[in-house]
Amino acid sequence: MIVVTGATGKVGHELVRLLSEAEEQVTGLSRQPAPLPEGVRHSPADLAEPASLKEAFEGAEALFLLVAGEDPRAILDMAKAGGIRRVVLLSSQGAGTRPQAYRHAAAFEDAVRGSGLDWTILRPGGFTSNAFAWAEQIRADRTVAAPFGDVGLPTIDPADIAEVAAVILREAGHAGRTYELTGPGPVTPRERAAMIGEALGAAVRFVEQTREEARTQMLQFMPEPIAEGTLAILGEPTAAEQKVSPDVQRILGRAPRTFADWAARNIAAFR
Ligand SMILES: NC(=O)c1ccc[n+]([C@@H]2O[C@H](COP(=O)([O-])OP(=O)(O)OC[C@H]3O[C@@H](n4cnc5c(N)ncnc54)[C@H](OP(=O)(O)O)[C@@H]3O)[C@@H](O)[C@H]2O)c1
Repeated sequence: MIVVTGATGKVGHELVRLLSEAEEQVTGLSRQPAPLPEGVRHSPADLAEPASLKEAFEGAEALFLLVAGEDPRAILDMAKAGGIRRVVLLSSQGAGTRPQAYRHAAAFEDAVRGSGLDWTILRPGGFTSNAFAWAEQIRADRTVAAPFGDVGLPTIDPADIAEVAAVILREAGHAGRTYELTGPGPVTPRERAAMIGEALGAAVRFVEQTREEARTQMLQFMPEPIAEGTLAILGEPTAAEQKVSPDVQRILGRAPRTFADWAARNIAAFR
């Protein structure tokens, strides 16, 4: 049995689908109900309340864990008590490049490394799916407002993260490894808006926000250190944050999906 946390999320939902298709026994875990493939058990539980995880973990062998809740050691103790022997952590590139801003993810990494379980850590950069935040404005008036219009980053498709996680959960040889996950090349916000326009068959206007405008917007849905860390990555990325990682290609035997591919598959959200 493999327990997948974040079963309602963009990575977790796709991972549950891939594992179930491969005929693995899967439990999808989230606080909200999740529409899951037939035969997949859903476990309503909260990572912020480790005691609530007992039933989901009982008799399981592996865990796909995301960063949520405040006590990773208590989560991992529950996992071990339930019989889990392997954990794949969905961390963040920022845990390596900006450990202070991303200390929550860094603390989960430390706990996983010290857990005594076989562990693998995934460090994705920004997700292509963050462009869903533009959907309402594109639907309303074919406009994207975003900061740092000409700074390119190799954003990663969450479907690729799920595919990498599925391989790691099913095949030996990944214990003790930390993988950096990126897309195939840097794409700027202005280029991303244009690619959505191409998939729509309509021009999408790009309006560059100031850093302050973007910060005010971000603080509505993320804590201040994460907003500051995200703005720093978007505006002044380090060489490591701009670098294309070979890890998706190595693990999947194919190049990572492009932003244009993500836009084409998800265009219904922008119509
Ligand atoms: N977006 C990015 O650019 C980016 C970059 C690097 C890393 N990441 C990391 O990737 C992870 C997943 O991202 P995503 O896009 O898949 O997010 P998402 O679509 O918002 O999904 C998050 C999932 O986590 C579950 N969840 C949240 N808090 C929980 C809790 N306390 N207990 C149990 N489940 C909980 C949610 O389900 P319920 O709400 O139903 O519980 C949901 O299924 C996040 O941890 C994020 O930090 C994201």
